[in-house]
Amino acid sequence: MIKIFDTTLRDGEQSPGASMNIEEKLRLARQLQKLNVDVIEAGFPIASEGDFEAVKKIAQTIKGPEIAGLCRAGFKDIDRGWEALQYAEERGRIHTFIATSDIHMKYKLKMTPAQVLDAAVKGVKRACGYTANVEFSCEDAVRTELKFLAEVVGAVIDAGAKVVNIPDTVGYTIPFEYFNIIKYLKDNVPNVEQAILSVHCHNDLGLSVANSIAAVQAGAGQVECTINGIGERAGNCSLEEFVMAIRTRGDILPFKTNVVTDQLTPASRLLTSVTGIVVQPNKAIVGANAFAHEAGIHQHGMLMDKSTYEIMTPESVGLKASALVLGKHSGRHAFKKRLEELGHDLDDENLNKAFERFKALADLKKEVFDEDLDAIVADEVMRVNEKFKLSHITVTCGSFAVATATVQMEIDGEQVRTAELGDGPVDATLKAIKKLSKSEARLVQYNVGSVTGGTDALGEVTVRIGQGERVVIGRGSSTDIIEASAKAYIDALNRLYFATERDIEPL
Ligand code: KIV
Ligand code: ZN
Repeated sequence: MIKIFDTTLRDGEQSPGASMNIEEKLRLARQLQKLNVDVIEAGFPIASEGDFEAVKKIAQTIKGPEIAGLCRAGFKDIDRGWEALQYAEERGRIHTFIATSDIHMKYKLKMTPAQVLDAAVKGVKRACGYTANVEFSCEDAVRTELKFLAEVVGAVIDAGAKVVNIPDTVGYTIPFEYFNIIKYLKDNVPNVEQAILSVHCHNDLGLSVANSIAAVQAGAGQVECTINGIGERAGNCSLEEFVMAIRTRGDILPFKTNVVTDQLTPASRLLTSVTGIVVQPNKAIVGANAFAHEAGIHQHGMLMDKSTYEIMTPESVGLKASALVLGKHSGRHAFKKRLEELGHDLDDENLNKAFERFKALADLKKEVFDEDLDAIVADEVMRVNEKFKLSHITVTCGSFAVATATVQMEIDGEQVRTAELGDGPVDATLKAIKKLSKSEARLVQYNVGSVTGGTDALGEVTVRIGQGERVVIGRGSSTDIIEASAKAYIDALNRLYFATERDIEPL
């Protein structure tokens, strides 16, 4: 059985703009529990107060999977890590790391190999003082001199690590080479069988899934991955792609995972709702076109026998027929049931908010689709604390008019209003909001799309705004795209305001 270690909430959250608040992380952790992953890496406890609280909350709440927290190999990190993880008891995993490649040791850590080895062993021993469930990662393992890598792996196993991770931190390796690295460790580290070798592949060359498969063929027992493959830079190994590759090619890949695959699509959609990061349409397994057959010849083959062009069924990944779902006469019960099928388990308060919005939308729009429901949940439920709220907006524009937006907002409970001219209605609206909020943030990206087809479709706007190094995403939807733009911009301002600072040194 290959263990699936999900790091969506830690490495995934390191995707630009993917930062999540505690409530959002908990929501995703519940879905990861349904997916039945073996380990949830919930965050980096020392990185910020927000990370600490999220790891603690998940450790207190989620039953089933082990809960890991990342810690550098220093005592302060490890002590803080356990403070958050202790609530998961024996399911709490301290994941500690230090870089082992010459490049990282020389330029980043400014430490000798002997010092790094010593820090690794001391870190693991410190962690073992709290729990037997300790994982150690040799950061940048793929660019580490092999003999030294084997020495570190052997030493941390002796010190008590039960899992040793061999990450391709910079997404540099290729399958054949990675296979050989794992095989070398299996053959040359005398105590290697006392621990599970784990792999953690980044996707800079688009090879993260292929590399992970090669690694399990060489004897790795754990794969670290993320939903939708989100993560630092080009992302991490995509959980859904790895799991479905193993399942679909069981004929030549004699491995299994515990993942409940029909929860993959709900997990992917939920992550998109939470982060606003949309999946490319041609993405394997969870892209909108992954099961769409366009060419006539393919459609003909499918009608004769599905196996002509379908190597796995849409149902196996949780894709249910997404035709028209609900209309204005649909009741609360049907609404709740469909939301649950889509991966949105809402409490009563949020369900009421979402249902009200659904009724309002169903009055405007005859047909309400799954995508509309995702947008409603993103808009009504995935809200952060609101320092800024939109009260009213009025816009005038046209071929002969200078666009003017009058915006009224509630800021810290007080109503404020202003008007601005702009180069078009969106520009005028965003300028007015910027003036009222006194924000210094720069607009990095603005995208508008329609959630479904038809001129009465919900318009969905995504904006990215940045301040210093930090970039956040905001989303808003409405059948009026100017209102959607205002909501998205205000959502981003709230996220920026409530984002917790992280400032982490290498060790
Ligand atoms: O990519 C990496 O090396 C990591 C480690 C900290 C596991 O994320
Ligand atoms: Zn990583």
